[in-house]
Amino acid sequence: MTYGVGIIGASRVSGGHAAAIADVPETTLVAVAEPNQDRRDAFSRRHACTAYASHAGLLADPNVDIVMIGLPHYLHTEVALAACAAGKHVFLEKPMAMTVADCDAILAASEEAGVKLLVGHTEHFVPAGLAAKRLIQDGQLGNVVFATDTWYRTFDLANRPPWFLNRAEGGGGMWYMNGVHMLDRLTWLVGSPITAVRAWVSNPMVGQNADDTALAWLDFANGVHATVHHTGYPQAGPERNEVEIIGTQASVRVQTRDDRLWLSNGTDYVEQPVPANESFSLELAALVQAVGYDTAPLVDGRWGRYIVAVALACEESTRTGEVVQIPPGLYTDLTSW
Ligand SMILES: NC(=O)c1ccc[n+]([C@@H]2O[C@H](COP(=O)([O-])OP(=O)(O)OC[C@H]3O[C@@H](n4cnc5c(N)ncnc54)[C@H](O)[C@@H]3O)[C@@H](O)[C@H]2O)c1
Repeated sequence: MTYGVGIIGASRVSGGHAAAIADVPETTLVAVAEPNQDRRDAFSRRHACTAYASHAGLLADPNVDIVMIGLPHYLHTEVALAACAAGKHVFLEKPMAMTVADCDAILAASEEAGVKLLVGHTEHFVPAGLAAKRLIQDGQLGNVVFATDTWYRTFDLANRPPWFLNRAEGGGGMWYMNGVHMLDRLTWLVGSPITAVRAWVSNPMVGQNADDTALAWLDFANGVHATVHHTGYPQAGPERNEVEIIGTQASVRVQTRDDRLWLSNGTDYVEQPVPANESFSLELAALVQAVGYDTAPLVDGRWGRYIVAVALACEESTRTGEVVQIPPGLYTDLTSW
């Protein structure tokens, strides 16, 4: 069975989506929707697919079985709801939506339409992360005690679209773009839900109406704690993207951007082999598998909603200066481990 895939948004991320479609044997790219004519024409020429100026046109195309939505965050809910109503299976980029209530609406729409919904938390599919997860599950670290997640990069102001510079209306900022990756990978690697947060999410670096810097302290249900350190430099700066997990017997360091993994051996870290694989392809294959076998996709809508809730709780903690508890109803039934 081959599934026709339509990409909504010829965005920064759409090249990765197109490569995944080419890589997954059960999928073929049939259409793109993009209002910007230059980007639309370039994408459809490059990938030899039908081009639509609006997502509505693509959703009416009977050749499209699955849509991959890579849109500004404020558009996720509207377009995901329309895709469900059109009976398309949905690959929705992270973060799932702007509010928990919007996530609820998308979940309800996908269930009502009987379509599968996967949220694009790519960190769940990076080979180095998968290998680290296996080491942790095999007990090679002993008991996990704490973790630190560090991501420093340039903010790249000159190349950011307007929506990214507006947290309130666009859903922009580094926290909602990258922080959700950090929360996802920490939760998944620690193997237990975050139950409470204390955080500071602010904009001291570039001073836009969107954050560029975040620190967070996270409590997990299994007694583990973690810290998150994230910033976007106004100019070039020392870049770092790494999760370090400390256990009673050993520790791991994972760099998902470079797909590298180290396991401690006494006082030294020793690099571990990581199987070659593409995270975007594994992610799309997970949705195809869910469609084919009628199962819940790995990284489903409930997981996407939970990560949104934790990210928003960190922003709330910034406003109140208090520890914010995550309602247990949002994590007791999670299955995307
Ligand atoms: N998983 C990852 O590693 C990863 C990496 C980058 C971005 N993302 C996610 O991808 C999504 C898109 O981010 P981006 O940085 O690529 O955004 P972007 O702003 O670069 O691109 C968005 C595109 O959508 C188009 N668009 C706007 N309205 C549209 C509509 N109604 N129908 C079709 N197209 C429309 C815009 O013209 C633009 O070309 C976000 O959710 C982001 O978080 C994920």
